[in-house]
Amino acid sequence: MENLIFLETVDSTNNYLKNLALKGANENTVIIASEQTAGKGSRNRNFYSEKGGVYLSVLLKPDLSGFDVTLITSATAVAVSETIDEISGKTTQIKWVNDVYLQNKKVCGILCESVITPDGKIPFVIVGIGVNLFKLKNGFNNEIRDIAGYIFEEENKEIYNQFIDLLLKNCFKYFENLSNKKFLTEYKNRNLVIGKKIEVIKGNTTYNALGLDIDDNCRLKVQYANLKTEYLSSGEVKIKL
Ligand code: BTN
Repeated sequence: MENLIFLETVDSTNNYLKNLALKGANENTVIIASEQTAGKGSRNRNFYSEKGGVYLSVLLKPDLSGFDVTLITSATAVAVSETIDEISGKTTQIKWVNDVYLQNKKVCGILCESVITPDGKIPFVIVGIGVNLFKLKNGFNNEIRDIAGYIFEEENKEIYNQFIDLLLKNCFKYFENLSNKKFLTEYKNRNLVIGKKIEVIKGNTTYNALGLDIDDNCRLKVQYANLKTEYLSSGEVKIKL
């Protein structure tokens, strides 16, 4: 069973939990904050984290020998997407690797962080989830206004609590047995990228490609304009709308 810690304000639930983990916190510790003052996104970006969203981190200590962190991220994306659909009656999709979209707007980001010991072991993984559950009072800032969306217009405490309950239930349903990859079918079904024209971003260069498939390790198979194909296991793609 998980151990839940609620905080009103924190810099980043991932940072807070990482500190607890380094001091020996138990597996399945969950930090939930009403707002973050320095929410972290992938690629050193900020994650806008005003009140009205769900910001939480889960501490896992999986045996990572047989599979990698991408599977945790992908399982989390499915759990979030299923939770939003169940609570709101809407239909979300997953943009590879791990962004959840509602009507072409990003409503959730996931940031998994781990540390590696000098002997190459990964003692824990922090799974950070940020969901734009309610419309923010001040709206999104200019930088993300066109790409970010939310799920409900009106803030509602009951929905907030139900959402967290179901989200954790759905996450642990997958985390408890990651190696059986039960999330994989849904991960593929919900994916926004397959069959779409995309841009693959590598460093400062962008390549036009077509999203072909997702394999059993959640890698994205793409085909470039020169017809060469590649399996991507991490990185960023943009959908050409
Ligand atoms: C992304 O889309 O770039 C990933 C965003 C991850 C945001 C969540 S909010 C809870 C947790 N704490 C953080 O500082 N980041 C993650």
